[in-house]
Amino acid sequence: MEKEKVVLAYSGGLDTSVIVKWLQDKYQMDVVALIADLGQPENLLLIQQKALEIGAIDATIVDTRTEFVNQFIAPAIKANALYEKKYPLSTALSRPLIAKHLVETAHRHNAKAVAHGCTGKGNDQVRFETAIMSLAPDLKIIAPQREWAMSRDEEIDYAKKQGIPVPVTKTSPYSVDENLWGRSAEAGELENPWLEPPPDAYSWTKSPEEAIDRPDYLEISFRSGLPVMVDEEELSLSEIISQVNKRASQAGVGRIDMVENRLIGIKSREIYECPAATVLITAHQELEALTLPRELMHYKYLIEQIYANQIYYGLWFSPLREALQAFIEKSQEHVSGKVKLKLYKGSCQVVGRRSDQSLYDYSLATYESGDKFSHQSAKGFIELWALPEKVWGKKHSHLG
Ligand code: ARG
Repeated sequence: MEKEKVVLAYSGGLDTSVIVKWLQDKYQMDVVALIADLGQPENLLLIQQKALEIGAIDATIVDTRTEFVNQFIAPAIKANALYEKKYPLSTALSRPLIAKHLVETAHRHNAKAVAHGCTGKGNDQVRFETAIMSLAPDLKIIAPQREWAMSRDEEIDYAKKQGIPVPVTKTSPYSVDENLWGRSAEAGELENPWLEPPPDAYSWTKSPEEAIDRPDYLEISFRSGLPVMVDEEELSLSEIISQVNKRASQAGVGRIDMVENRLIGIKSREIYECPAATVLITAHQELEALTLPRELMHYKYLIEQIYANQIYYGLWFSPLREALQAFIEKSQEHVSGKVKLKLYKGSCQVVGRRSDQSLYDYSLATYESGDKFSHQSAKGFIELWALPEKVWGKKHSHLG
């Protein structure tokens, strides 16, 4: 009888390698490895080969970079999506995309189950499984790291017995996840939130001390909320992201050290490197300040926070996220123009902005001659603006 199949999100690391064997052992299933190319700086062909050597019956690399950029990162830029005002959601955004490809691969192979290598403590298990449930409610999900009761040492023993290559050199002491939108590092020494991150916690960006000793001026042009040009060069969004990642890394821009609230209830200390995300979101926010009317901008702040939470919480495919997206899309119609940034030793400062859609009106703003603002109208405005306060103040004095 033919064995049942399971599609595993395979990263090439020790955990998912052990999982290939463990699924064969414990579930008597054939394992199809899925390797998603999200622009992580790794040799995916070697990872593919490894999966096959360990015993996967198939190992597929899916190039999801364009989809990641256009369907996930682009909407997140328009939303200035930052979890707890800091984290550009690089890992979080990739999970629903990987989940989608797990489901598609499962259907293609007629597999009844999918599996991932997340532990029971993180956000990623929630994101994978929530996305899988919304895309394929009947697919079985296996999370071996939650099921097996192996300690780290037992896992290494198991790997050795099964002939799975265990890295002999000291690998990163951190748990790392990388894609085009950023790099996350957690665990190891970083678990002490007082400790300044050791230099090896960073890999993409220069430290401010090592960064080049002159400012790098960068101009980003946007059309309807999305970057389309760096300096004078029209580029695709993927090209813009990789170019800005490089330049900002050199300037030491994009390091984020934070304690964040995980969905499963704990606080954790995380180190992110998101150079392009930092620059592009900073520029985008600034262009919105120039082109959005006040009330739309203020209302959008509220939406942005809920939107970022939805992504962080694994609810990418939720009707709420989609409805918020519709609001965000509408808000971007006139967000076109150019922002000038100065990158210097870890800082990313906006130093100029301009747009044909600008709502900045010099004749209203100026304190010089040529002022067209109606000073007289201010008096009446304040009278009515303050009227409710005046009425209240008559009844309830603040003066003791
Ligand atoms: N805490 C971050 C998040 O929830 C990063 C997770 C990183 N994942 C990892 N396997 N290292 O998005």
